[in-house]
Amino acid sequence: MLPVPSKRTEQIQMSAIRRMMNEAGRLRALGHPVISWSVGEPDFNTPQAIKAATVQALESNYTHYSSNLGLLELRQAVAAKLEEELGLKYRPTGEILITNGAAEAISASILAVLDEGDEVIIPTPAFISYANCVHLAGGKVVEVPLSAEDNFQLDAERLAAAVTERTKLIIINNPNNPSGAVYAPQTLAQVANLAVEKNLWVLSDEIYRHFLYDNARFRSLASFPGMRERTLMVSGFAKTYAMTGWRLGIVACAETSFLPLLKVHQYLTTSAVTFTQVGLAQSLASPHTERAVQTMLETFGARRNLLVRGLSQFSQLKVYPPQGAFYLLVDVSGTGLDAERFCQRLLQEHYLAMVPLSGFGAHCQNLARISYAASTPDLEEGLERMRTFLERF
Ligand SMILES: Cc1ncc(COP(=O)(O)O)c(C=O)c1O
Repeated sequence: MLPVPSKRTEQIQMSAIRRMMNEAGRLRALGHPVISWSVGEPDFNTPQAIKAATVQALESNYTHYSSNLGLLELRQAVAAKLEEELGLKYRPTGEILITNGAAEAISASILAVLDEGDEVIIPTPAFISYANCVHLAGGKVVEVPLSAEDNFQLDAERLAAAVTERTKLIIINNPNNPSGAVYAPQTLAQVANLAVEKNLWVLSDEIYRHFLYDNARFRSLASFPGMRERTLMVSGFAKTYAMTGWRLGIVACAETSFLPLLKVHQYLTTSAVTFTQVGLAQSLASPHTERAVQTMLETFGARRNLLVRGLSQFSQLKVYPPQGAFYLLVDVSGTGLDAERFCQRLLQEHYLAMVPLSGFGAHCQNLARISYAASTPDLEEGLERMRTFLERF
């Protein structure tokens, strides 16, 4: 007889994104010319100013523990950015936590507010972490399917209809992974009213707030009346600064929510790596970093247009043009395949990796996600492979 793992882990799904990444890696190792449109990882390297400052920090022996809250200088730099870009004031001590990636920010926030059996409303399709972290915390996921006809816009009435006396938290991701939707301020205002009226927490994952297209405007949920006290704002550096492997994220919240969050963070990871925090604190606001970010954002905009134009030529696909983030959804039912089969065949036969939305929401079996955080040549070549594949249908 062997000891058994926890019941909680039985509910946890392995990520479809990682599954496709692993299969793509296996095929690549066999020598196949795999192109990845699957993972949400900018193909750019981290801006030089950030790398140089971090090397210097390591050389200067910033190799000891930092504060559990995160390095003060980085918290100050984050507070300055939030004020400058969003007009939101968060105190560096007691309202900003530096985490190991936005991933830890999400899990720590959820563990800090949920009790066993609490319900969590998640509009879907949604980033896979949310539901799985809710399961880990012993909570119950209540999916609110968003409609493709509305381009996956948030629907406050549907959210309101899902609230029960057990509801504790709503999770909003704006701009959205995987749909690329950017939520309209008037809808966010309705969500804010709902949260205030029903006394709910809101986890607002705003990690893609810099990625906006077609004049889309971003507004933070924390900026609506009554929301600062109940919003756990999650963000990170992985996407905007091409720092996925550095594992640095943040939670910004009101002082009243901070201690529970800090307790969870302390026992999950203690603190983020010190020399990376020092390097980032010193280079975050440098003109070199700002220029590098601007160039990356402009490139993402051009890639988004290239893909929307290219994919719209294929009558077998329905394309949902994104307004934000760097993902795009396609409905593949015109091929007669569901998204799982479609993505498997595209990868095995043409070495093009996309992600089926199984795991992103129960109603998503015909939807597949494309990440255009891939190089422009890989997008162009991928479109050619897609054309060849679709000729059969
Ligand atoms: C919506 C969303 N939130 C959080 C994360 C996690 O980011 P990090 O790499 O900082 O943990 C991702 C990564 O794909 C994401 O898409």
